[in-house]
Amino acid sequence: MNTRNTILGLIALTLTACSTLAQWTAPDKEKKWSHTKEYRQAEGLFWKSFHSGQYQNIPGLLELFKRIYSENPGHYKAAARIGFLHTWALSERRRMKVIPATIIDHASLCQKYFKEAYQLKDDPRYLGFWASCTLAEAEIHGQERDLRKGFFMMKDAISDWPQFNYFTGGYVLSNRKADDDLLDLAIDWQWKNLDVCTGESVNRDNPDYSQYMNQETKKGVMRACWNSKKAPHNFEGFFLNMGDLLVKKGKVETAKKIYKNAKLSKNYSTWPYRQVLENRIAQADKNVEEFRKEFKAGEIPGHPMMMFNTSYSCMACHQK
Ligand code: HEC
Repeated sequence: MNTRNTILGLIALTLTACSTLAQWTAPDKEKKWSHTKEYRQAEGLFWKSFHSGQYQNIPGLLELFKRIYSENPGHYKAAARIGFLHTWALSERRRMKVIPATIIDHASLCQKYFKEAYQLKDDPRYLGFWASCTLAEAEIHGQERDLRKGFFMMKDAISDWPQFNYFTGGYVLSNRKADDDLLDLAIDWQWKNLDVCTGESVNRDNPDYSQYMNQETKKGVMRACWNSKKAPHNFEGFFLNMGDLLVKKGKVETAKKIYKNAKLSKNYSTWPYRQVLENRIAQADKNVEEFRKEFKAGEIPGHPMMMFNTSYSCMACHQK
């Protein structure tokens, strides 16, 4: 009996080793992106829709990019677009009158496509979004192990491009409770984002950004600190979100100073969400309680919510 068990055990071990080895030695998928007419048209439609907040175009755009991807699974740019579209659908779900339960599937799909994109192209933006989708999916499915995995992926993404991913990492932690250490971490990451953008430790009590405005650039890793063609109101959106995090924490006076930095932007007067910011400054004290109220992911509550939970959670930075 014992010998039989040992033999069975050995066979099982060998099979496991074989399967592991077979998987390890499998060839990598080949990167093969092509700038076809079909892709160019899909890109044009994507940016037109994304920059004007045409959320209703998402299903049509997914169809276009998935057609391109299914013809060429090495097309990392198409894979990434699909990932962004699923993230947009999930993140701005409060644009819908009623949120269907199937909305949760966008988290699984954005995870899948960013994984594909990142494996083909080592782009820290893809890793940051992949990590966010992993965290969102883990939360939905109640998977603590995946939550931890997503967290470590985010740390890698931050070290690869801190100017971009400190924001991303903190943003997805917005729904942590006010006394949760992870909300403190989300806030700390926003400060660190400012530090890596300015090259010095920004004053935590008086974060006046006017002294840094001459550092604006459209180039290199530092471009993620400023407005650009792709993210025309990144600067304003960043400070709106950071102010919201601070308000939730109860740091109202610092939050007001942070909100005000958004007004330093050259493009502030054309920002579609400037009224939101003005209201945030006026209502900052009251919003401490509002932002702490609990609600469900599929709910559209009547009270003011942090940027992360609104219908403009992507558009605050991306709408023209
Ligand atoms: C705080 C502002 C901010 C928010 C909020 C934000 N983004 Fe961005 N996003 C940026 C910046 C900055 C860039 C440009 C990075 C660069 O220059 O490469 C960017 C780039 C992008 C790109 C272009 C990537 C490429 O292919 O070059 C897409 C697509 C995108 N974001 C989607 C989203 C989606 C979807 C959301 C909502 C879940 C979102 N973003 C939320 C700031 C933001």
